[in-house]
Amino acid sequence: MPATLLKGKPLARKIEEEVASEVTELRQKGITPRLSVVLVGENPASRVYVGSKEKACKRVGIESETFTLPESTTQAELLKVVGALNDNTAVHGILVQLPLPGGLDADEVLETLDPAKDVDGFTPANMGKLLLGFPYTVACTPAGILAIMDHYDVPVEGSDVVIIGRSNIVGKPLAALLMQKAKGRNCTVTVCHSRTRNLTSYTGQADIIVAAMGSPKFLKAGMVRPGCVVIDVGINRVKDDSAVRGYTLVGDADFGELENVASFITPVPGGVGPLTVGMLLKNTVKTARFCGCPQ
Ligand SMILES: NC(=O)c1ccc[n+]([C@@H]2O[C@H](COP(=O)([O-])OP(=O)(O)OC[C@H]3O[C@@H](n4cnc5c(N)ncnc54)[C@H](OP(=O)(O)O)[C@@H]3O)[C@@H](O)[C@H]2O)c1
Repeated sequence: MPATLLKGKPLARKIEEEVASEVTELRQKGITPRLSVVLVGENPASRVYVGSKEKACKRVGIESETFTLPESTTQAELLKVVGALNDNTAVHGILVQLPLPGGLDADEVLETLDPAKDVDGFTPANMGKLLLGFPYTVACTPAGILAIMDHYDVPVEGSDVVIIGRSNIVGKPLAALLMQKAKGRNCTVTVCHSRTRNLTSYTGQADIIVAAMGSPKFLKAGMVRPGCVVIDVGINRVKDDSAVRGYTLVGDADFGELENVASFITPVPGGVGPLTVGMLLKNTVKTARFCGCPQ
């Protein structure tokens, strides 16, 4: 039987409606949620992501502004911009688009960013709170993964989960979320990475596999057990001369092989991706409520 498709777009639309009504309520109280995005350099994918975040903010009534800094920006200049946004009481949320150009230290930037305004949930303070079990803002992609599984009633509680990828933006925060001592979580989580020996010995046992590695169609049918849940986080551009843009987007899972083996699977595009932006909007409203700065 083909797997149930976990489509992200319908849920993302629902989240946007909820956020829009929260924004209306905040505006009535004199608070207009405002997000400041800092984009450094020319990375084309980053520009696309920032553009889609701006459009989403507009759709729900969040004010957003983007500070576009040149590739040549120094660490001191970047820290000064972030510091000024920290101090600006009209700004509720700050997002520094990653990755930064080579030579800039993202860790220092995240240590400087005010955790109360951290809409990505990437600052050490917010990552620590998540790990300790009392989160404030949570990294958007992991939060989106939980939202999509909950929305489609994927059985998560107590599952054996294997996450392939240990990045600070996906693998690590997702592991912290899934292992929480909380209803619908309580998972036993294994985090694999490029140095994992015999990856298939882990994926082949898992109830839920999250592929977040950036390797096109890596996860194959022979690596999983029938009936498992496949969450595909990867977004990879694969050269395709027949496509208008010259490339096709594919995930880290081989959808063609897995759709008849898994019980649930996220498509790429249109699975986890739309939820990432939805969670950013939710986090921005959260920071606006917390900072609560009437303008
Ligand atoms: N859908 C969304 O909204 C969204 C959001 C964020 C990212 N993404 C996508 O998700 C993917 C991962 O992103 P990321 O930022 O987490 O990537 P990343 O920082 O490059 O981390 C990749 C992780 O995968 C591991 N890995 C790489 N090759 C592996 C292999 N052959 N076997 C096992 N593990 C392997 C790496 O191991 P080591 O640690 O040992 O190097 C690393 O932990 C990318 O395709 C990215 O575009 C999508």
